[in-house]
Amino acid sequence: MSKRKVVALSLLWALILILQGYWLFEGQRMSRAAEAAREEQAARGAQLYAQNCMVCHGPVGEGIIGPPLNRDAFRAEGKPPVQVATIQDSLTKTIARGRPGFDSHTWLVEDGKIHSYTRMPAWSTADNGPLNEQQIRDLVTFLMYGDWQEPSKHAAAPEVARLTVTEYVQNPDTGAQEQRTRPVTAQDLDVQAKGLTEEENQQAKELFVEMNCIQCHTLGSYGGVVGPNLTQAGEWLPSQEFVERWIANPQDFAPWERMPSVWHGQGTPLDLTETYREEQDKFRSIMPPYEDAMSPEQIRLLARFLMGLGDVEKRNAASLPAPSGGGSSQGPGQGGGGDGGGAAGAGGGS
Ligand code: HEC
Ligand code: HEC
Repeated sequence: MSKRKVVALSLLWALILILQGYWLFEGQRMSRAAEAAREEQAARGAQLYAQNCMVCHGPVGEGIIGPPLNRDAFRAEGKPPVQVATIQDSLTKTIARGRPGFDSHTWLVEDGKIHSYTRMPAWSTADNGPLNEQQIRDLVTFLMYGDWQEPSKHAAAPEVARLTVTEYVQNPDTGAQEQRTRPVTAQDLDVQAKGLTEEENQQAKELFVEMNCIQCHTLGSYGGVVGPNLTQAGEWLPSQEFVERWIANPQDFAPWERMPSVWHGQGTPLDLTETYREEQDKFRSIMPPYEDAMSPEQIRLLARFLMGLGDVEKRNAASLPAPSGGGSSQGPGQGGGGDGGGAAGAGGGS
């Protein structure tokens, strides 16, 4: 090989190496930017989740009224691109359009399993929902890549939970109207349980506030959105016994004992019994046990109270009425702020 050729070849090699290095660097730079964008999307998605989805799907995605969303099935990690695209597409469609079923929580025991016929609301503005395309993308990114510890950090934000009452009071000295904000009390809770005396209702509401149930659960016009909205709890809670045991120690329940495990909104039933068994630890409740904080009588009173809320006759309905359609006629009914609980079927009192 002539000297010249050698020089030319080594120059070529050098060029290739430089270019490769550049491409490599460029590739890394791109992915870092994409990663930052994705993290931002997921963070926005976590907040949207706390505002709109937590009441039905649980603070850590463990599932309550709606199925658990913290399942491996929805994660992007370690999956080939084609599969990732499919998951993304199906999540986007489900969230945008919702799935048909009943507006209020409807569970039936069939073949020893709890079956759900509850509706998934439609969320996209195209379906009269409150969320735009970007917001739905953010939610999907959160579900596929986000951190399930994030949503509950937003749950206590004033725009999500309603735990204070704003009043106007007259200042005795100046006579002027002044705005005052105070914590919610038992008297503010505008719900009334059937089958309980006025006094028992009052006592139960006091317990609900004192025991901090209100921090996590909406009752009528007030409360948090960490757990399900209990305004119409009497329509869907399985039994007095169940509720007493639940309040005493929620961690005592296996996931398939307390939740629906078969869902019917998709056409083909979605049976999560196996997932519940395989990924069990993800679906345990974060609700604290109360067996040491309350007497059995107090727990019984609270359970009776909850069982008396809403149209309790529905619980005993022998047959189901016709389900409402795909959620297009009626949006989740939230004006974005403060009414996360509204989506869980609460009409603000009974
Ligand atoms: C009023 C309760 C309720 C609210 C609020 C709610 N969902 Fe749902 N969701 C459901 C129910 C019920 C189902 C199951 C429907 C079926 O297939 O039977 C469901 C199903 C889903 C599914 C499909 C799960 C699967 O296994 O196929 C996804 C994804 C989902 N919801 C995401 C969301 C997101 C994101 C939000 C917030 C923007 C949200 N949901 C708010 C009740 C709710
Ligand atoms: C730290 C938040 C938190 C507090 C405080 C709390 N709960 Fe809950 N609760 C939840 C969550 C979350 C769920 C949904 C189930 C789950 O995620 O495992 C739930 C579920 C429930 C349910 C429905 C059971 C079911 O099968 O889903 C009832 C009834 C209930 N809570 C009653 C109460 C009462 C009564 C109190 C007060 C004595 C209370 N909760 C306090 C978070 C809380």
